[in-house]
Amino acid sequence: MKIDVITIFPEQIESFAKFGIFRIAKEKGVLDFNVHDLRKWTTDKHKSVDDKPYGGGAGMVLKVEPIYNAIEELKTDKSIVIAATPQGTPLSQKYLRELSDNNDAHYIFICGHYEGFDQRILDNYIDVEISIGDYILSGGELASLVIIDGILRLLPNVLGNSQSPVSESFTENMLEYPQYTRPEDFKGLKVPEVLLRGNHSQIALWRDNKARENTLKKRPDIVKKV
Ligand code: ADE
Repeated sequence: MKIDVITIFPEQIESFAKFGIFRIAKEKGVLDFNVHDLRKWTTDKHKSVDDKPYGGGAGMVLKVEPIYNAIEELKTDKSIVIAATPQGTPLSQKYLRELSDNNDAHYIFICGHYEGFDQRILDNYIDVEISIGDYILSGGELASLVIIDGILRLLPNVLGNSQSPVSESFTENMLEYPQYTRPEDFKGLKVPEVLLRGNHSQIALWRDNKARENTLKKRPDIVKKV
């Protein structure tokens, strides 16, 4: 998978991508990851990426030209241009699975800022808008990182997971079952017996039940949706 990120804060993305799943995916050769400074595609001497909104109002709006120039230079036939915006399609595990299953895709993430994008960018040069939740962040960097992280952990061979044949399974949409590690007894707080006995089918059943119980208790809306 190839991912390009266009941002006015390249260091923010680069520093995050040095660790964890980003690093693993790059090292395993599963991910070709490139970060670009949007200012590279500006044409004026101040390297301006934003300007005042027509019609007045507070804040600044991201200009069309630099983003258009960036996309034109980076895109190929396989590219899908993504903007993280609060009005986009809500992100879900199912959506991440779709994005991740598109293994040899080339995703170009454009990180918005200020009061947002000039609408002509969204209408003409962006293929998908994705929202990571009903709240407003100050920029698209964190949202893009959230989306990319969610995609990468589903790629085959990144976390040692082979591609799941039951990708849309009920379990994938459930909350996690509880996990424990050593010690077996911490100040009288004990690890559930079943996990210590080594009976794998019993453990699988216990985990499945716990995941369902957890989801029903904490997120009944997910159960209803699935
Ligand atoms: N940019 C700012 N807020 C956002 C959100 N909630 N989701 C995606 N991108 C955003």
